[in-house]
Amino acid sequence: MKVGVMASGRGSNFQAILKELNKGNLPDVEISHLIVNKKSAEVIKIAKEHNVPYSIIESKNKNRTEFEKEVKNIFEEKHIEIIVLAGFMRILSSNFVNEYKYKIINIHPSLLPAFPGAHAHRDVIKSGVKKSGCTVHFVDEGVDSGPIIMQASINLEKGETEDSLSKKILIKEHQIFPKVLQLLCSNKIQIIGQNIKISSD
Ligand code: GRF
Repeated sequence: MKVGVMASGRGSNFQAILKELNKGNLPDVEISHLIVNKKSAEVIKIAKEHNVPYSIIESKNKNRTEFEKEVKNIFEEKHIEIIVLAGFMRILSSNFVNEYKYKIINIHPSLLPAFPGAHAHRDVIKSGVKKSGCTVHFVDEGVDSGPIIMQASINLEKGETEDSLSKKILIKEHQIFPKVLQLLCSNKIQIIGQNIKISSD
């Protein structure tokens, strides 16, 4: 399936997907295009290194409708079927999300529904929980609220900081995000209301 990726920053999840792809572990995934909404994003370098076509659509001085129209034009032109949000730091409108219902996945660095939003690591540390992790979920109209597809957990140690926590969780992110993408592109994910069933065959 043709996959379009949207990213805003470092791009380590994008890189993890490309790595698995190059190893032959994602046979049903074709990374067709990357859209970046910040021209300074490091993820651009990764796209160049792997010869992934990309577009920079600066979102800073653009309203959401304008921005999303440009994104849609590109994805339609490229026949994109699945959208991956790999550290994409802008909320998408309900119009956009509903046009790609159950076709957009996101990775979030907490065990949702706990700690949604942009400051998951900070909120986790503050709360004193002993376990956290990451979640791959479908994107719906809410913030980090769509059906949960896969999670991986880690234990918090004494003296854990936002930095150490994010590093630990990132390792798990890089494992489950490519895995979910392959499952989705091979039609192994079934949605039953808010619940997900993954077929094993
Ligand atoms: C990750 O922590 C991801 O969970 C969150 O944004 C971060 C993106 O990191 N959505 P990277 O750009 O993939 O390195």
